[in-house]
Amino acid sequence: MPAERAAAFGPGRVNLIGEHTDYNAGLSLPFAIAAGVTVTATARPGGEVVARALDLGESDRFALADPAPAHGWRAFVRGTVAELAAAGLPVRAAALEIRGDVPQGAGLSSSAALGVALCLALTALAGVPDTDRLELARVASRVENAWVGARTGLLDQIASLLGRDGHALRIDFRTLAVTAVPLDLRGWRLVTVGSGEARAHAASGYNERRRECAQAAELLGVATLRDATVDAAADLPEPLGRRARHVSEENARVEATIAALRAGDLCAVGALLDASHASLRDLYDASTAAVERTVAALRAAGAAGARMVGGGFGGHVLALLPPGTAAPEGALEVCPGPGARLV
Ligand code: GLA
Repeated sequence: MPAERAAAFGPGRVNLIGEHTDYNAGLSLPFAIAAGVTVTATARPGGEVVARALDLGESDRFALADPAPAHGWRAFVRGTVAELAAAGLPVRAAALEIRGDVPQGAGLSSSAALGVALCLALTALAGVPDTDRLELARVASRVENAWVGARTGLLDQIASLLGRDGHALRIDFRTLAVTAVPLDLRGWRLVTVGSGEARAHAASGYNERRRECAQAAELLGVATLRDATVDAAADLPEPLGRRARHVSEENARVEATIAALRAGDLCAVGALLDASHASLRDLYDASTAAVERTVAALRAAGAAGARMVGGGFGGHVLALLPPGTAAPEGALEVCPGPGARLV
């Protein structure tokens, strides 16, 4: 039954480990966080969608049947309406109000939080509140790819839609199988710290890595780098060999992190975060001087492990702090919370 009003909350996410693996059919271990975006949708007569971004004091208005391309937050709204319809899901004329508290550009995926909240609110308003969450993740991802222009994978949307309180999610991007893994930090804390550097070349660097991975897989004769071995990668020309080795070893680090969490061995988790960072820096060439300074400062402050998060090329650093270690100034503590929901 269509509703007169529906409100949905989409959380941001932190990826504990498993970076640049999603578009290689690999493994990741993200969790949803408390901060997120809320979208309130109210049915309205006629054939238009009107939207207001309350935090920005901006608005938008477009035809439900034919949203034209736009930039910024408007691209998410218009793209979600268009991609829901393209997926055969019902969409209604609506007034949308958007507000959020995910720090932007912090590597906490404010964009996935927005996309997911839009999908949930619009489908609930149209009377299909139980739409399959993986289908919604694909819709939200297509919005980022086709409307926002970011060729990202499914990591952020699945983490936001399927997050579970107190858990991280082991996502296998080959099958899209999602398994909740208890994230019991036993008094340790996870914090993110900004490097002070905007992710200026993030989009171009990210897209270049995607191309390199596709090329490496083709040379190895495998469908994706999930099937590449470290031995086979060694025969590839550089930098393709290093890219393939990162993906292969990062997948193994996801499994090792899950084993360490199950054993309650937080020191081992810290060492795996460090190894992931070294690989992203040395094999994937996705670090910057500012990120390296931030990682070094966190280690000096007593972190058991620290690594760049998300796409890299600037942005934020995630650190694991043992009990009693003071969080550096400006650090934001992140805890695993529930996934997207109607509110
Ligand atoms: C960004 C993308 C994700 C993923 C990460 C790297 O956050 O949105 O799809 O590829 O980079 O792990």
